[in-house]
Amino acid sequence: QIQIASLYQKFEQYFDIGAAVNAKTITTQADLIRRHYNSVTAKNEMKFAEIHPDPDRYTFEAADAIVDFATIQGEKIRGHTLVWHNQTPDWVFEGPTGAQATREELLTQMQQHIETVVKRYRGHIYAWDVVNEAIEDTTDITLRKSKWLDIIGEDYIAKAFHFAHQADPNALLFYNDYNETNPVKRDKIAALVSSLQDQGVPIHGIGMQGHWNLHGPSIEEIRAAIELYASLGVQLQITELDLSVFEFTDRRTDLTEPTPEMLELQAQRYEQIFELFKEYQSCITAVTFWGAADDYTWLDHFPVKGRKNWPFLFDCQQAPKMAFHRIMK
Ligand code: XIL
Repeated sequence: QIQIASLYQKFEQYFDIGAAVNAKTITTQADLIRRHYNSVTAKNEMKFAEIHPDPDRYTFEAADAIVDFATIQGEKIRGHTLVWHNQTPDWVFEGPTGAQATREELLTQMQQHIETVVKRYRGHIYAWDVVNEAIEDTTDITLRKSKWLDIIGEDYIAKAFHFAHQADPNALLFYNDYNETNPVKRDKIAALVSSLQDQGVPIHGIGMQGHWNLHGPSIEEIRAAIELYASLGVQLQITELDLSVFEFTDRRTDLTEPTPEMLELQAQRYEQIFELFKEYQSCITAVTFWGAADDYTWLDHFPVKGRKNWPFLFDCQQAPKMAFHRIMK
């Protein structure tokens, strides 16, 4: 078998190439990850509900396994995520009495959680998605409604960054979100980050999730978002890249394999997107895929349960797809 060139080595002079992993894929995709990616992110294992399921109980085993794997392989590690409206247990928002926590109680809880998790992986995790998806999508409301916002107030975001910075002054701290190319949302994201900067909040980067598909967003929309975020003087990372073969509104479930047209379009899109990222190499420091190969993707269950998807550069056998060859040209 001919040895194919390494993806991350190809892009080493521009940015890191990451893969989201879990406790299983660090085994089933170990060779692929080692060869083609130089950074990893835990898909779920560091989220609040997974790592801190009960008030007095942290479950570090799966997260530790990922950190150990990455350390042995010499992979960088991005941490995901500290404060989010999803995958956070109800008890977090309840005070000691079981009623709703007060602002002070929730801030204490947030601080303890952030301090414990961030300190544990100090020196291993170089960047954290401190706050995830805090901006409302479509309406003119800026901040998404959540228990964090309800109970603490708008400064919950600034507080989270301060706590993370105290726990590890060397970690790069990111605000991470999706629909990041939507003109209305990207302005709100930029306004949030800019106001955090004005308040002296330690924030170093914006994470653009990059859950895109074969038809959108356009290259010009992505470029506009990159330009806007870069103008704030922070670094940018693409944190969860995948190119779904279905448009978001497409609810078809009858496809058992991707059509040649889909694979061709996907290859074209990946090529254009990576060309664009290369243009912005001075501000884009990492491009992480939300998986490593088509044998395992969250899009197999989202937004349609149990529908197979093929969003990556490697197929279900972990062999390079047309898109891989196109961006390696
Ligand atoms: C997803 C995981 O991949 C799934 O396994 C889980 O069921 C739900 O969360 N935006 C994010 C990620 O920031 O944390 C999400 O990950 C995908 C969308």
